[in-house]
Amino acid sequence: MVDLSWLIMVIEIENLSFSFLGAKKPALKNINLRIKRGEFVAILGPNGCGKTTLALCMTGIIPHFFRGKLEGRVLINGKDTRENEIHDIISDVGILMQDYESQLFFPRVDDEIRFQIENFGISSKKMEEISKEMKLSPLLKRNPLELSEGEKQRVIIASILVTDPDILILDEPTSQLDSEEREHLLGILRHLNAHGKTIILITHNTHFARYCSRFLVIRDGRIVEDTRDRGFLEKAHISDLGIEPINYNWGNHKISTSNDLQITIRDLSYKVERPVLKKISADIGNGEFILILGKNGSGKTTLVKHLNKLLKVQKGRIIINGKGIEDYSQREIAKLIGFIFQNPEHQIFRNSVEDEIRFTLDSLGLNEDNLNKTLELFNLKEYRDRSPHAFSTGEKQRIALASVLVSEPDIIILDEPMTYLDFEAKKHLIEYLRAIKESGKTIIVISHYPDYYKSLTDRRFIIADGKISEE
Ligand SMILES: Nc1ncnc2c1ncn2[C@@H]1O[C@H](COP(=O)(O)OP(=O)(O)OP(=O)(O)O)[C@@H](O)[C@H]1O
Ligand SMILES: [Mg+2]
Repeated sequence: MVDLSWLIMVIEIENLSFSFLGAKKPALKNINLRIKRGEFVAILGPNGCGKTTLALCMTGIIPHFFRGKLEGRVLINGKDTRENEIHDIISDVGILMQDYESQLFFPRVDDEIRFQIENFGISSKKMEEISKEMKLSPLLKRNPLELSEGEKQRVIIASILVTDPDILILDEPTSQLDSEEREHLLGILRHLNAHGKTIILITHNTHFARYCSRFLVIRDGRIVEDTRDRGFLEKAHISDLGIEPINYNWGNHKISTSNDLQITIRDLSYKVERPVLKKISADIGNGEFILILGKNGSGKTTLVKHLNKLLKVQKGRIIINGKGIEDYSQREIAKLIGFIFQNPEHQIFRNSVEDEIRFTLDSLGLNEDNLNKTLELFNLKEYRDRSPHAFSTGEKQRIALASVLVSEPDIIILDEPMTYLDFEAKKHLIEYLRAIKESGKTIIVISHYPDYYKSLTDRRFIIADGKISEE
């Protein structure tokens, strides 16, 4: 018999529009889309264009868990998401969310995976199969929150796969992954796709999207491109669509050296159960741009957290501007060093964008001269009264950047600041960093994506096995 299963539509969307409650404009407008079983679809487009909203509509999370106005229809394996309960839909489609940490609930990996099956009724054979497939076998008794980012994602994917859904949606899955973990995840997705799963990948990382077989571009809530042309990502016009061209040249830089020592780290060691940092020493000059590289879990964030006293020095010394870090008050350090966290969700607390930024100024005892300038610089002026929680992740990242940089600290530490940003916002941030570098600021960036910073980087530090080396 001829296999016609590939003809089956797993997702059918008709005239879908959605507005979040209280939003001025719809997040999705008149979307029509049909996805066949076994397709490998990339969804691309600038920050705030509606990618995550569309993903949430394709899982029933919208309208079941978000308030707003939905028009049109979404059918998952023929089931209307509005007319069916969420647990009936979720067995057909699983999602790895943009903020995937919020999907982890249990203190043990095996329970996390079992939980998806009613009453934890998973056979040990199935558990073994899934853990092997996701390379989780040695981790089953570990606490998911203590795993590396790639491992956390694999736990969630495993917990989705136990219910054997037809469709797997991944919203920006490479955001926190080092290159090895990225390739590993890609391998898993290609394997699942080859075995008939429909994969939908939302990403700003065009390099990662290159194995997809269909490309959708969303702008301003509408689908503006839908193509099965495999060469699409190499086309010149994709930057006009707000997408980073594959192998985009982020430029080169003449290295500048600084003689004025600003930060000295001597024999810094740090231990939680096992040693994380082992006798690290480094010198950073005034106005230098330092890029810190290293695999997931190597200790990069742990190192920089010492610089702004988020972590207390256990062993060793840190001297900044000639003074031991222990002699700085928390407030003095906060004034001197701006720190942008890895995940913007961890940096946003207030009720409006403007309050978020004003809070920094108030807590550091600064006046409001910079407030409007900063709102403008990060393209946030029209959003100033909106709650920062009701934004897309890339928009939240811009808010987090603005709320720290408004105080114009002398030293700026950015932990993987680019990954949620679209092409325009990335270019914008590089230009901004160039301007503040030229004005003499010291910048330390942690990243798995060194190419973005090529035009700025003076020195590269590599952290591996708790030790530091310079490239
Ligand atoms: N909970 C919410 N309440 C109100 N508006 C929201 C909410 N979440 C997102 N929005 C708005 O809906 C629009 C689409 O957001 P969405 O999160 O789908 O964008 P995205 O394409 O996923 O962006 P990103 O690339 O930054 O992840 C944006 O204008 C955003 O500000
Ligand atoms: Mg999103």
